[in-house]
Amino acid sequence: MSSDDWKRQAAEQALSYVEDGMKLGLGTGSTAAKFVDLLSEKVKGGLKVVCVPTSEATRAQAAALGIPLATLDEHPALDLTVDGADEMDEEMRLIKGGGGALLREKIVAVASDRVVIIADSSKRVDVLGRFPLPIEVVPFGLASTQRLIFQMATDAGCDGEIKLRLGASGAPFVTDNGNHILDCSFGAIDDPEALDDALKLVPGVVETGLFLGIADVGIVAGPMGVEVLSAVDADFDEENS
Ligand code: 5RP
Repeated sequence: MSSDDWKRQAAEQALSYVEDGMKLGLGTGSTAAKFVDLLSEKVKGGLKVVCVPTSEATRAQAAALGIPLATLDEHPALDLTVDGADEMDEEMRLIKGGGGALLREKIVAVASDRVVIIADSSKRVDVLGRFPLPIEVVPFGLASTQRLIFQMATDAGCDGEIKLRLGASGAPFVTDNGNHILDCSFGAIDDPEALDDALKLVPGVVETGLFLGIADVGIVAGPMGVEVLSAVDADFDEENS
């Protein structure tokens, strides 16, 4: 089996959390895209849901598949969001934003009663930070913002190269919100909460890719099978086990 198969297995398992009539957040990335594919089959079979996508890419995919869509303004409170992740630690803290959608992903996730993260087992880590941390920043004052991020991160015990993400054309990548992404190779992030707090003090930082205390359930598929993990304070793990 390949990582693609595992991503699909995790996505399949996430369908068990979907109920008729739900308002759903749809994540971004290759794993979330598999969930959207599978969900569309259920919709064709009669499942009634309305979905808020976390990116223009997911919106286009879902629309092409005939999934009913709405905006978060139309439905400010969602029942469930299913999304992928770049890293997940033992406390179900995440790094997200590899696909550049971290801001909308975080807004949609915190608007949701339940957040289910689907991933192949390569995403599980003991300590966050092997994957460079994406930070969404406004274009104005970019060099100054980057300098301040470096200083704040160093004070929080993290340092490493900070690179402006480039798109396929070689120009700076632009998010769906018109911002840029700085990818920060900090290495091990021993205290993600302290780093997140410090980074948010930088005025040009819109949001970080640290998703702390947001995920309720992690569905991780790999060579050992599919594992369903619950956040310590999640109160619904038995419903779906
Ligand atoms: C996009 C994300 C994705 O969830 C993350 O990058 C994982 O993507 P994939 O499922 O393709 O590995 O955060 O901003």
